[in-house]
Amino acid sequence: MNEAVTIVEVAPRDGLQAVGPFVPTDDKIALVRALAGAGLVEIEATSFVSPKAIPQLADAAEVLAAANAIPGIIPSVLVPNRRGVERALAAGARKLGLVMSATDGHNRSNLNRSVEESFADLAAIVAEIPVDGPAIRWSFSCSFHCPFEGVVQPSRVLALLERAVALRPGLIFALADTTGNAAPDQVRALFGEAIARFGGRARFAFHGHDTYNLGIANVAAAYEAGVREIDSAAGGIGGCPFAPGASGNVATEDVVWLFRRLGVETGVHWRKLLDAADLAARLAGGGAASGHLRHVKAARDAA
Ligand code: COA
Ligand code: ZN
Repeated sequence: MNEAVTIVEVAPRDGLQAVGPFVPTDDKIALVRALAGAGLVEIEATSFVSPKAIPQLADAAEVLAAANAIPGIIPSVLVPNRRGVERALAAGARKLGLVMSATDGHNRSNLNRSVEESFADLAAIVAEIPVDGPAIRWSFSCSFHCPFEGVVQPSRVLALLERAVALRPGLIFALADTTGNAAPDQVRALFGEAIARFGGRARFAFHGHDTYNLGIANVAAAYEAGVREIDSAAGGIGGCPFAPGASGNVATEDVVWLFRRLGVETGVHWRKLLDAADLAARLAGGGAASGHLRHVKAARDAA
């Protein structure tokens, strides 16, 4: 077998945040349970952001409490600022996903802050969270392409990483293709360079979207470059409401299938994942999961 990979399941957060009609809290909790039942351990359960910005996730505290009660999983929550951290910790968060964008255009649209303002906020948070406190993961949205600024040069992301990595050894940095515009050569180049420069002091994750159907190719490129943590959403649901034109996350069932074929352990139970993916797609207003594996699902009994 090749080196195992960790899948970070983001359907309950990235997947549902753009959905219009409010998904009942019990349905969100049922989704987290179904994902956990499929063997997904790392699950981004919700986000603590302004309910004015994302009304869909206004029930974050309830969803997190339910996720925390599921044995064996590590629920994380996305937080963009100090208020989010305070609310998350008060609700019992054990893992914080700090988030900001690599570009001013998207960071202003998404968080109403410049890159420098958000960086200062998040750096102060890292300094204050004790090393034996809640785990920290730091995501840079739009690390490859920005809906407002176009293609992002690797040097910009590497410069941000250089400063962020220095804050504390052992952090995990998720580099996100928020618009789904990246291609495998870009993914390979950025992660290759990031791991070469900072790999001894930090770990890296890839968060991809599938707007141009290159999501799974990008995941393969990230793995080849040495990334061992991949974000994906069951059913391929999701998208950032502050990134015009972006579509769903790379589908967890596509990612699990890829790694199955590559002989890479994910710990995910294939058939249970397909059921969870269908549930995710239904909650998101669809019928069946929208990952590219619908044809494979037809053969689920053979799998
Ligand atoms: N959770 C809940 N409320 C929050 C909050 C948080 N994390 N951060 C700020 N607020 C509240 C403030 O308490 C304040 O409330 P008040 O009006 O009752 O006093 C209000 O929001 C405005 O605060 P301010 O700091 O001025 O926020 P803002 O209007 O500049 O918006 C964000 C900034 C970050 C709060 C907002 O843009 C946001 O939540 N964005 C998240 C978008 C998102 O989740 N995108 C997808 C994930 S990448
Ligand atoms: Zn995303």
